[in-house]
Amino acid sequence: MDKLTITKPDDWHVHLRDGELLGDALRHTARQFARAVVMPNLSPPVTTVAAAKAYAQRIMQACKLLEPSEIGHFEPLMTLYLTDNTPPDEIEKAKAAGIVGVKLYPAGATTNSAAGVTNIALCDATLAKMAQIGVPLLVHGEVTSAQIDLFDREAVFIEEILHPLRLRHPKLRVVFEHITTEQAVEYVMNADTQQLGKIAATITAHHLLYNRNAIFQGGIRPHYYCLPVLKREHHRQALLKAATGDSERFFLGTDSAPHVTRSKEQACGCAGCFTAAQALELYAKAFDSVGKLQQLEAFASFRGPDFYGLARNTEQVVLEKKPQEVPHQYAFGAEYITPLNAGQTLEWTFLG
Ligand code: NCD
Ligand code: ZN
Repeated sequence: MDKLTITKPDDWHVHLRDGELLGDALRHTARQFARAVVMPNLSPPVTTVAAAKAYAQRIMQACKLLEPSEIGHFEPLMTLYLTDNTPPDEIEKAKAAGIVGVKLYPAGATTNSAAGVTNIALCDATLAKMAQIGVPLLVHGEVTSAQIDLFDREAVFIEEILHPLRLRHPKLRVVFEHITTEQAVEYVMNADTQQLGKIAATITAHHLLYNRNAIFQGGIRPHYYCLPVLKREHHRQALLKAATGDSERFFLGTDSAPHVTRSKEQACGCAGCFTAAQALELYAKAFDSVGKLQQLEAFASFRGPDFYGLARNTEQVVLEKKPQEVPHQYAFGAEYITPLNAGQTLEWTFLG
């Protein structure tokens, strides 16, 4: 197969940042995707509907400043950042404003999560409201306890937080974001959605393509460091099988998380891989590696909108099997970002 034509995809998990960085993050996502679920971990975080509406306006404004030839029609799907104090009332307002989900960041789990949830039990009234009126909970699924090994934090989260939470709120719909382990694949694949709410998971391209060795290949490779961190090869294999399989519970979320090169290449570097500029090429590489390109459209373009109850896109895009060299850097505000795979050759090229 030399050309792949698919329904235009959406990114169900992305970081677009804000201020002078917004346009430079957005241009890459808006080139490949019709819609994107925009994560609320700004500083300060997007904790109210008013803040989410204002952020959506800044995104639309930034869209207008981009070259029309550079991007297609783009729609941001907004989220709220859950805190210990998010009132149930705010959920009612969120639903009315078309906010697609509320994001749980356990406090201290990742970039800009300091204002996140310290104890999920504090959120029970708010979660009950979400379950009642149908606002999904999007979860960063890692415990934060220093006693738990970094590589075990997702598996422990399932047992200690996620499953008890679904039992307490049997109607709550959940998206387990950027899953990285076979335990998460198994949990989502086998989850009871008759008695309990629907559950799905997003999977990044980098977790489909790399295992944890990539972070240490011949030296320390900060651009391969993200949270949840890359895991062992058998976990990657489980993710690849889930993404390319027939379950409608797994769909595309790049978790593209740009940080300026200077703050990645540091004694204490930031977590996040920037993949938005070659997102579909990277997913195509992963699917092609197991001869499952024919499954890419369902993963990238159908299962996400189906889960969220939104219409599928109608436009089409084309990927061609034509080599491209990934640039070493892209402009990012007054500085630069380094894409994952900088300087490498990818086999596929997104034509639009
Ligand atoms: C994200 C970021 O930089 O905002 N970083 C990351 O490593 N994925 C936050 C997140 O999604 O955890
Ligand atoms: Zn993220």
